[in-house]
Amino acid sequence: MFGREAIEYKSNEQIVKMRKSALIVADIHDALREAVKPGMTTGELDLVAGRVLQEAGARSNFLGYYGYPANACISVNEVIVHGIPGDRVITDSDIVSFDCGAVLDGWHGDACFTVTMPNASEVNKKLSHHTETAMWHGIAALANAKHVGEVGGAIEDYVDSIPENERPGLVMEYMGHGIGSEMHMAPDVLNYRARNKGAKVKPGMVLCVEPMLTLGRPANEVLDDDWTVVTKDGSNACHWEHQVAIHKDGIWVLTARDGGVEGLKPFGITPVPLD
Ligand code: MF3
Ligand code: CO
Repeated sequence: MFGREAIEYKSNEQIVKMRKSALIVADIHDALREAVKPGMTTGELDLVAGRVLQEAGARSNFLGYYGYPANACISVNEVIVHGIPGDRVITDSDIVSFDCGAVLDGWHGDACFTVTMPNASEVNKKLSHHTETAMWHGIAALANAKHVGEVGGAIEDYVDSIPENERPGLVMEYMGHGIGSEMHMAPDVLNYRARNKGAKVKPGMVLCVEPMLTLGRPANEVLDDDWTVVTKDGSNACHWEHQVAIHKDGIWVLTARDGGVEGLKPFGITPVPLD
């Protein structure tokens, strides 16, 4: 995918600029968390994302990306990723992933969170918990990693540590990526352990870590709209993503309002902001 292109290393000043677009993504997430109610359509929720972008003087980096037709990706239940907002109505038991992006002054932000609606089953709530935790394991690994491949190793190890009777499926076909002056840049950030160690972790890298897990088997297919990725067995899926800067003095989770303080606490890691 983006593996063989040159990596774009950012200066501290550029990372501070990227924090701005990342915080717009955090604002979109907050507005969606507040807005999402049973009975709403995913299309209505996409307009919420559009309003936040407009108020911030930013634009969506998803809209028009290879012809993508909306501001955000909203993936409900069996949709793993790249759900196109439209007429689908949210029910009170759904699990919904909101993948959102913003570009401001030429710098890109990209992050995803999941909500389980009030009557969602325990297994769906656990699926979201495990996916978010897998993401934090990947981010924590970055703090000390020599190679980007350690992120996928940590994500896979976490999933493997879940008792077999509730262990989710790990989606292999979609992955994290570098980000900066474009949304998708080198290097690839795999969600599983691979023979290839991946790029060397160096200051100036900004990476999106974004595992996707499923309640059933992780096998998936793309619908006829050429975007929507669903599980083949119809089981529910979940996606979490943060955008993380690596600099000389540590890591900083740009799309987390607290920079990653809470998420990294269990790992004994303290993120280091640059502002
Ligand atoms: N935000 C997705 C990612 O995490 C990409 C969205 S593709 C788009 O990499 F076409 F919807 F923009
Ligand atoms: Co991404």
